[in-house]
Amino acid sequence: MSTLVSTQLQDGVAVLTLDNPPVNALSAAMWQALDAAVTAALADPAVRALVLIGAGGTFVAGADIAGFALLRTRQDSLDRSAVSHAILERIEGAAVPVVAAISGNALGGGLELAMACHYRIASAESKVGQPEVLLGIIPGAGGTQRLPRLCGVAQAIELCTEGKPIGAARAEQAGIVDRVVADPAALREAAVAFALERAAAGPPRRTCERVIDAEVGRAALAVARASRAGKPQLAAATSAAGAAIEAISAAMELPFSEGAARERELFADCVVSAESRAVRHLFFAAREAIKVPDVPKGTPVARIERAAVIGAGTMGGGIAMAYANAGIPVLLKDVDHAAVERGMAMIRKNYQASVDKGKLSQEDGDRCLARITPATTYEGFDTVDVVVEAVFEDMALKRATFAELGRVTKPSCILATNTSTLDLDDFGAASGRLSQVIGHHFFSPAHVMKLLELVRGKETSAETIATSVALGKRLGKVGAVVGNCFGFVANRMLGYYLREAQLLLEEGASVPQIDRVLMEFGMPVGPFGLQDIAGLDVGWRIRQHLVSVGKARAEGPQSEVPDRLYELGRYGQKTGAGWYRYAPGSRKGEADPLIDELAAAAAAKRGVARRELGDDEILARITTALANEGAQVLDEGYALRAGDIDVIYCHGFGFPRHRGGPMFHADSLGLATVLARVEEYRSRLGDHWKPAPLLARLASEGRGFHDVPPRVA
Ligand code: 3HC
Ligand code: NAI
Repeated sequence: MSTLVSTQLQDGVAVLTLDNPPVNALSAAMWQALDAAVTAALADPAVRALVLIGAGGTFVAGADIAGFALLRTRQDSLDRSAVSHAILERIEGAAVPVVAAISGNALGGGLELAMACHYRIASAESKVGQPEVLLGIIPGAGGTQRLPRLCGVAQAIELCTEGKPIGAARAEQAGIVDRVVADPAALREAAVAFALERAAAGPPRRTCERVIDAEVGRAALAVARASRAGKPQLAAATSAAGAAIEAISAAMELPFSEGAARERELFADCVVSAESRAVRHLFFAAREAIKVPDVPKGTPVARIERAAVIGAGTMGGGIAMAYANAGIPVLLKDVDHAAVERGMAMIRKNYQASVDKGKLSQEDGDRCLARITPATTYEGFDTVDVVVEAVFEDMALKRATFAELGRVTKPSCILATNTSTLDLDDFGAASGRLSQVIGHHFFSPAHVMKLLELVRGKETSAETIATSVALGKRLGKVGAVVGNCFGFVANRMLGYYLREAQLLLEEGASVPQIDRVLMEFGMPVGPFGLQDIAGLDVGWRIRQHLVSVGKARAEGPQSEVPDRLYELGRYGQKTGAGWYRYAPGSRKGEADPLIDELAAAAAAKRGVARRELGDDEILARITTALANEGAQVLDEGYALRAGDIDVIYCHGFGFPRHRGGPMFHADSLGLATVLARVEEYRSRLGDHWKPAPLLARLASEGRGFHDVPPRVA
């Protein structure tokens, strides 16, 4: 008998427990074991009903995502889905009631399995959803056919195109779940009682036999299609959402079996697509990026009950909100009452804006706000478990702050810094506790942006790293552990990305052209628009600091145009002009002929002949610059894996997820192609286009960045 599914008979009910840790994913073996267990239970004349329940406090988080890599062709997919569809049809066709008992998650194939059961009972904390679209696919085990039959077309479209799970109470209201039990510990007993109740009530109810209200459904489909029409970027980035809408349409227009066949076809198209391969890579990469070889599983993790943030400016305020949103009380300290009040006013404004937009209830907003306590002294710092320093980017100030922190915090407190460019081993030493010093590098706005770079210093302890990883997860962030080099991984790579855009500008491309090319590629904003948002003064300060320590942000030529813009007081959107001009109150940049004049002058000074540049060259140069520097970062060990860099660039700067990140994109092109580009640029543009040794080595071996095993700096 398989250990994946075990059967116990209780009061005439066969309770089938699915047990495939950690999330009871439906691997091929699990499908087989489930089928065998269901068949055996149905053949037992003593069985009056079946209950399907998950082990380990959760139902089923879906199909085994790793298994999709084995589906190399559409036909592989069609063959595989024929098996799962048939198993679900056998379950739905059972003569006795089958009840799904849901705790934890019923996601993707998990919800599809539950919907093929005749009834669903869920514990109050559980969640159900069809997140497949986030993996570039559609529900492939009948979800697009059964879901609209249970909850209607509009809700099914929302669940299948947005991928966001909903809680048990909402699922009950929507008709997806029949009954909710408050206590997950009581779920099994309640499910058995429910199953017996249904067995006594007559033949089971089958979802596939339900009829969809076609008039209401067609109206919902028309709205969904209209909202996507005329948005070509949606077509490229989320073709799976479009496929889900088509499959739901088939559910409405065709008999169940034909609709299900259509779903299988559409699923097969999606699962073999480059887009799906890329986002599936990111799914696993995000889970790998927080694993560190010398921080083994089981490393003690400190409990974080209270936190403090120093500096109530742009970053400190957002970081305090991230803590408050996660339910962690936080002290927010600045130099004086006026400074901390400025920060608090911004925080209040942000919460109010969320309440006004309907994203947050007034009650929840008030509750979060109440978790943030303004402070002007270190009183109470001896009670906190973590401090995040976010004062000005100034070495002397940070040293003084860490010296204070060493004195005022308890010995176990984690001392985190949000520095973006300074050496945390240097100023962190002032605390006398380097083993607890770590970078918690948030991105602006810190309560919104998902990426959290966790920067390990030379003495950061395994426990500090493990606790920070767990804390990042609790804060709802996508963490990535990186080494301590200038700019860490995100900003170091960004330096090369921006530098190449600026050099292309000097060579003759225009700001709008370069931004358009990158946005057509899938970036949310182009490199120049990005600088106008972040502020050109920020980059200027970084350059000044680097000059003072005798370094440059990127090796080789630098465009002087950013300095000219700074001198003109053009800091970007905040001053009404940067790389673009902005009408008062507008965020829409207008091209400015002055930029071209500045670029031409800079080119003349460097002896660069200006010419027309094609879109293809612009894209190739910028993505190749990223890949080459990424190779260097990887070779030096500041990122452990190529996938970590992909996660960082996608979540930090919006590199298009459907392209899998800069390193995945390079691997997809083939490193021989990338190397050939670097060599061509070197011969044409100069030695700063040296191939990174790792790139050259991997290309000659016919391997990719993702074939490199993780290593530590
Ligand atoms: N397949 C394979 N592995 C999975 C998985 C899945 N569906 N879901 C989670 N895992 C693995 C993760 O890779 C991770 O492995 P690791 O410990 O080796 O790194 C482990 O389970 C735990 O996952 P998380 O770290 O994400 O744990 P959390 O507790 O934070 O989250 C979760 C749990 C909410 C279930 C989250 O893992 C999740 O969202 N999983 C994906 C759900 C999903 O997308 N389901 C649809 C799959 S596609 C499908 O079902 C197709 C169908 O229509 C045919
Ligand atoms: P900011 O200038 O908005 O805020 C800094 C705050 O620190 C000010 O309110 C200031 O009064 C306060 N401060 C100064 N000395 C202090 C002291 N001794 N005690 C308490 N508070 C003190 O700066 P910002 O942008 O929030 O940056 C803070 C840190 O975060 C810097 O290290 C910066 O490099 C880093 N960072 C900034 C990002 C950004 O986009 N702005 C992104 C990621 C990191």
